[in-house]
Amino acid sequence: MNVLGIETSCDETSVSVVRDGRMILSNVIRSQIEQHAPYRGVVPEIACRAHTEEIDEIFRRALMDAEREIDQIDAIAVTNTPGLIGALIVGVSFAKGLAMTLEVPLIGVNHVDAHVYSAMMADDELAYPYACLAVSGGHTHAFLVTAFNEMELLGATIDDAAGEAFDKAAAILELPYPGGPSISKAAMNGDPESIRFKRTFIDSDEIKFSFSGVKTALLYHVRGQNKTRWHEVELTEKIVCDAAAAFQECVVDVLVSKAMLAVRKTGVKSLAIVGGVAANKRLRERLANECAKTGAHLSIPPIALCTDNAAMIAGLGYQYLANGYVSDLDLSAVPT
Ligand code: KG4
Ligand code: ZN
Repeated sequence: MNVLGIETSCDETSVSVVRDGRMILSNVIRSQIEQHAPYRGVVPEIACRAHTEEIDEIFRRALMDAEREIDQIDAIAVTNTPGLIGALIVGVSFAKGLAMTLEVPLIGVNHVDAHVYSAMMADDELAYPYACLAVSGGHTHAFLVTAFNEMELLGATIDDAAGEAFDKAAAILELPYPGGPSISKAAMNGDPESIRFKRTFIDSDEIKFSFSGVKTALLYHVRGQNKTRWHEVELTEKIVCDAAAAFQECVVDVLVSKAMLAVRKTGVKSLAIVGGVAANKRLRERLANECAKTGAHLSIPPIALCTDNAAMIAGLGYQYLANGYVSDLDLSAVPT
């Protein structure tokens, strides 16, 4: 069964064709990063306009790459929550139009659930139940996942998401947006021990996260506490690289510690890390080490499945369909 997935919740326009929930026939992703970069963050109006302009072409390319005709599509899955309202509406409207025209089922998919499912798509050895850390620009959530549509929230951030913290830290260090990739690049030339940022909640037995403190500590570290003189501080390459390395190490320390705590608390044998921040090389290395020590199976999807993509939407959409869940044509876009 071929499910066509559509993802437009934030700043990637993506359409994908996936066979039987796992086999990715195409996964076309158009990032809007260049359009948002001057503003150091996603501008909703720009996102919405860009999705509207791009979606038709991305859809055609996804069919072409998959070597499928439109009448070989058996269902349409679309992200309908959470995300930017205008951006979601573009995908949901397009999906409804297709489902109506082709007379195939429409399936609304939760973006975070799809990130969690993405681990299953790339790893034959991953089996339920597993602990999952979903770390992106909008989320830092730990789940116990027992089925494609069953997960228990173990804990979450009380303020910034991990990806958001990377983006804000990059802005402080005057590095390009998005912050994750530019911080990790600068960190390669820096000393992670140069600054010891506080690892909030790391000694707590609870699964919870907070990243706003380290962001402020970073700001004060590089700029000093006197706001009126910030413009006088020169950000040398050494200051930036050392601060990036120390910041990354702090965030990674917390994520690794809480991910392993989730494994211990739930007693599961596998850990999955999903979402844009799962692309972080240092996080991947550290988790691989910890899991090797404890014998836990570690599952991290390839980068194209970590950052926002429609393959995970089509994949989870297939599972819904196969289990008899479909949406009505009055499916709404729900921002939160
Ligand atoms: O999952 P995603 O593509 O979109 C959301 O649903 O938010 O995640 C984007 C986030 C951004 O905050 C970005 O800075 C972060 O993931 N990110 C990274 C890396 N690559 C992307 N964070 C740390 N290290 C990276 N290599
Ligand atoms: Zn995402």
